[in-house]
Formats: sequence, structure tokens, C-alpha cells
Amino acid sequence: MHNVTDNLPDKNRRSFMGGTLTAAAGISAVTLLGTTACSDAQPPAVSSVPAASGPVAAATGGLSLAAGSAPPGPLLFRAEMDVRYCEIEGTIPADLNGAFYRVGPDPQFPLRAGNIPFDGEGHVSMFRIKDGRVDYRTRFIRNERWMAQDKAGKLLFPMYRNPALDDPSVAGISRSTGNTHIINHQNMLLTLKEDSPPSALNLLTLETIVPNFTFDGQLTSKTFTAHPKIDSNTGNMVAFGYEATGFGSDDVIAFEMTPQGKKVWEAKVKVPYVGMLHDFAVTKNYIVLFVIPLAKDDEQLARGGIHWSWDGSRPTHFGAFRRDGDGSDIRWFNGPTRSATHVMGAFDDAGKIFVDVEMSESNPFPFMPFKDGSAWNPITGTSYITRLSVDLNNRSISDYAMERLSPWTGALPRQDDRYNTMPYRYGFLGTRDINASDPRQANAGYVRFDHATSTQMFWNAGAGTSLAECCFAPKSASAAEGEGYLMGVATRQNEGGRADLVILDAQRLDEGPLATVRLPLRAIGQIHGWWVPEAQLPTV
Ligand SMILES: [Fe+2]
Repeated sequence: MHNVTDNLPDKNRRSFMGGTLTAAAGISAVTLLGTTACSDAQPPAVSSVPAASGPVAAATGGLSLAAGSAPPGPLLFRAEMDVRYCEIEGTIPADLNGAFYRVGPDPQFPLRAGNIPFDGEGHVSMFRIKDGRVDYRTRFIRNERWMAQDKAGKLLFPMYRNPALDDPSVAGISRSTGNTHIINHQNMLLTLKEDSPPSALNLLTLETIVPNFTFDGQLTSKTFTAHPKIDSNTGNMVAFGYEATGFGSDDVIAFEMTPQGKKVWEAKVKVPYVGMLHDFAVTKNYIVLFVIPLAKDDEQLARGGIHWSWDGSRPTHFGAFRRDGDGSDIRWFNGPTRSATHVMGAFDDAGKIFVDVEMSESNPFPFMPFKDGSAWNPITGTSYITRLSVDLNNRSISDYAMERLSPWTGALPRQDDRYNTMPYRYGFLGTRDINASDPRQANAGYVRFDHATSTQMFWNAGAGTSLAECCFAPKSASAAEGEGYLMGVATRQNEGGRADLVILDAQRLDEGPLATVRLPLRAIGQIHGWWVPEAQLPTV
């Protein structure tokens, strides 16, 4: 019997607009629609994108939603930029020094019909913040794919994770776009795409140093997650790869690297079926994989389509295994059909494991096809922060439990990353105002979850603004949990999509930004962002 408490048939249904289209990996539907509408003089629109007059528009009130940083307009940006001495409203906090990195897809060439925006080439941006000054820099990742396409002057990898359609000239080179996430490691910036190894960039210049980074050959998995975690106690990076032994394989390899890049642990497990393992959870003692029905679709691949489709006939599976074992101890717990692609925080306590995720009843991505041909549903596609738990002490249970933590909706949750693997109090989420009188016009904002008091604090970004994923920066390495700043890129729809970086006191979100860094034009679309404090940056 599932312990299901997330089925709230009437509760806050009207709030489904809040973050609905922040689709779990972070591209707003309107961003996608912009791709279709504005790729003028370019080949055809993305055919899988829902029409603007459909549920997407209904859910958004015609506005771009929380996670997208691009306005209604072309997905393609392609300008690499340097802006020195950015204009600043307010004051950059004196103890905020470091760099805020973002990455998102920016196709070199217009996407082929049927492709999805997750396939655009990775374009990294950096807000370098030091002594009250902010400089902005963006660079494409010069990975193997980008270099090959740049040389050829055309698309060579025309379909998201479908290598059968690749141009024969690129056989054997990395398909990575690196467009999903970034993390600093060994004094480099690793750019991540879960179907491939990372690339490594210079943290300050954003030049690509190593196009295909395999940790000096230690990476046995053919892939590397977009969501590695930093162990809260050791500082080690814990990561995994799925489809780890080859395209479509059901093998997962998990591993742990010291900050100096030495692999100190590895385990291998199999999943019940090959679904999108976009994120995972790491606690002090356990690894958790969560298998969702966004499943590899061989028939669709054979038709020349993308890797995944939503198979609503499949259940979910929560797999837990020890971090000090070889993976043979894995226990799988079952649950109903759901999506959950990002973790806010996770911890274990005396054999019990708790994992907080964004969870929706069905496919959260408007542009991901349904295996049975269903249309995307903005209500069942809405995500709520939900706590999943299992008690490993109980050998008789076969299902995981789940509990919805609040009525706030949205995807791309974050936490104070110093608490990646341990009990935590605060989480953050891009959302929309669930108290708006007209949900179709609800403003975007950031919300802070306080799990100790089960309360939430909301900052309303105001009308006409959409927000990208937020990122937390502590005041100092020793600051208390949640003591620091929350930042993210705000897109001003009524200014042609011009973008600002907003910086808020994470403990006083409702008071609004301490500083707003004004860019002269719009920002590149973002999936995820990452903060690197001054002490972890190169000195030159
Ligand atoms: Fe992600």
C-alpha cells in the first residue's frame, strides 16, 4: 500500500500555474515557443512544442514563466559577451565575492524539426563579483561537438540523444553539449550533460581547457550526471553515470572523487528500466536513484525522434544502496507513476532515508512526447516539493512513502549546498505567487522553505518578470545554514527581455533585492547555475 499524501484533488489546483512550465530541467515553455516563432529565415519550428494557444498559454497567462531567462523570442543567442563594470542598482554586499556561473542551451544552428531545446549547445555565463564590482562574461563551450559543427558549418548532431541520426563524420566523438549544469572541481569549471563526460573550462576566462574530461581516465562510466553532490563532511564529489556502459544500457555507475580528483569509491547497479535519471540523492551513508517513466523509447528513436517519451503505464522506483559497498545491497522501493527530476535536499537518520524532490503526477515537460500520444496536461505536470522516505530497518516494506510539503509549486529546487548530504533546514525554489487573485497573472518569485517550522517566505518579483533558477551563496564558509544571499537572473518581459541579476538576503527574501545588476540586453537561457566563492577561484 502506497503511503500517498500528495494526491490533493482540490487543494490549490488553481496554483498549477505556479511553476508549471518551469519544467523540471528548467526551460520555460514560452522560451520554446519563442524558438518556434522567431527562428525566422531558419528551418522549421520544433514540431513537438505545444501551440501558444493551448494549455501552455492558458497556464502562463501568455507570459514567460519562472525558470526561463529568455523572453518570448528566439532560443538562439550566440553572441559571446564581455561587459565590464556592470551597472548596479543598490549595493553588492561586501561579503559577497566570487563568481556566479550559469549554463543553458544556445543552438549553434536552428534545431531540426522534432528536436527539443535541451539539445542546444552549452553557453556558459559568469557574473564575476568582487569588491562591489560585477563583470559579465559568456562563452560557448568548445567541446568536441561544438568544434566539429563549427568547422562543418552545419548541424552534425541533429536529434536529442539519438546518435543514429548523427553525421558519419562525427563517429566516435563526444556528443556532449554541456548545456545543463556546471560545477567547479580541481580549479576548473566542469560543464555537464548527462549523456557524456564533462568538459573542463578555465574558471575566469571560460576558455575550454579539456573538451572531453575523463578525470585522467578514471571515469569508467561513459556518462556523467548533471547533478554531482559535494559531501558535506569530506568535500568529496559524489557522482554517477546512467546508461553507463553504452547507449541505452541499464547500468548505473556511482563514484566518489576527492577534491584533488582521485577516485576513492565506485559501485555499479542496474535499474528496473531505463528512465531519465537526471538527478540523484546522496546522504551521509546512502545513494538514492529515482527511476521515472520518462523512459527510453526505442520505437521513437527508430522513427528518428528523441530519446525519451512519457510512459504513464510505468511505476516509479526508489533505489537505495550504501556508499561504502559495491552496489549489491541495493533495495528497490516502488511507487505510483510520478515524475521527480530534482532534489532539494536529502539525509539519512538511523537507517531511514529522506529525499525532498520536485514531484508531479505526470510529465512535467510540455515538449516531451507521451508514448500513448496524450497531450501535455498543465495540472498533472505541475511540481510540488515532496518528501520521499524509506525505512531500511523494515525488511518487509516494498513501497516508499511520500508527503507533499507545501502548496508552493515549481521546479529546480536548491539548498545551501554545504548541506548536500545531511539534515537541512532551508530550501529555495523559483515559483509563482499562489495567492494571486488571478492565477493566470500570478507573478514569479522565489520562495524559501523552512523545514523546521514548515513555513515559507516569498519574494514577489513583480509583474512582467520571469526568473531563472536561484542559487544560494553563503556569507562565509562558516556562516550558519541559510545565512547568505540568493541570486538569480530576472528577465523583464516589458523591456524586450532585458535581464538583471537580482541578489537578495536569503534570510529576508520578502524585503526584495539588495542589489540588481543590470545587463544591457537579454541573457542566454539557463538551465542551472552555480556559485563559486572567492576562496575557490584562481588568483590570476
Ligand atoms: Fe537539472
